[in-house]
Amino acid sequence: MIKTINLTKNFGDFAAVKNLNLDIKKGEIYGFLGPNGAGKTTTMRMLTGTLNYTSGSVIINDMDLRKNELKLKSIMGVVPDEPKMYENLKGFEFIEFIMGIYNCKKEETQKRFEEICEAFSIDFLSNYIGDYSHGMKQKLMVSSVLMRKPDVIFLDEPTVGLDARSAKILKMLIEKYKNEGSTIFLTTHILEIAEKMCDRIGIINKGEIIAEGTMEDLKKLSTTGQNSLEDIFLELTGEDEISDIVDEI
Ligand SMILES: Nc1ncnc2c1ncn2[C@@H]1O[C@H](COP(=O)(O)OP(=O)(O)O)[C@@H](O)[C@H]1O
Ligand SMILES: [Mg+2]
Repeated sequence: MIKTINLTKNFGDFAAVKNLNLDIKKGEIYGFLGPNGAGKTTTMRMLTGTLNYTSGSVIINDMDLRKNELKLKSIMGVVPDEPKMYENLKGFEFIEFIMGIYNCKKEETQKRFEEICEAFSIDFLSNYIGDYSHGMKQKLMVSSVLMRKPDVIFLDEPTVGLDARSAKILKMLIEKYKNEGSTIFLTTHILEIAEKMCDRIGIINKGEIIAEGTMEDLKKLSTTGQNSLEDIFLELTGEDEISDIVDEI
């Protein structure tokens, strides 16, 4: 459902993403895990058509993204890391706007939206988005994506800014959409999310995939017999001398 071939992004002479080859099956929850600055958001923006890539290709649902951008955007849902929304719209106006541009089937989309609002305790739709907190914007953004029931859902650090209850609800919703056939690509630097939710995990560091597989596969990669994803992650990203650094401070 999501495939990249030698996908590369350079900013000037800095390579942010290098020769990335992803192959994500329909119905999978794929976790893209990496430390700050690893290239997660850059990858997400290339996959969703908001950032031009330097070389390589992106294939979604067997179609080349560059040649089928509008068609593919209609089957995608994207929750970016910073939800950018029209601050002068009220929540319900934003939802109407999204339903309009995506040509959603009014009745079923509205019904789904109301169910999601109830789950997230969204009761601020008649307020201006400009007055929302980050978490409130995030919830509205997630709802505006999920109500459309897209075939492919991209979420960039989706639980940042959400309280524990909302984060848990989001996790449950993602599971539900997976079970109904959506493919989910999410980035996170939170290991617990990747470990608990994802069918497969790709670990990216300095623009390159350094390990990929199920939790079981990743555990086998550890040379020191580590068992938790945190230990494996720190070992693979070369951050195992953290206690030495802290001792120095
Ligand atoms: N527009 C840009 N111009 C220059 N460098 C950028 C730009 N966007 C991202 N980068 C750099 O690319 C690297 C990867 O960034 P990013 O993909 O945002 O990382 P993260 O994994 O934290 O999401 C970082 O070193 C970042 O500074
Ligand atoms: Mg990021």
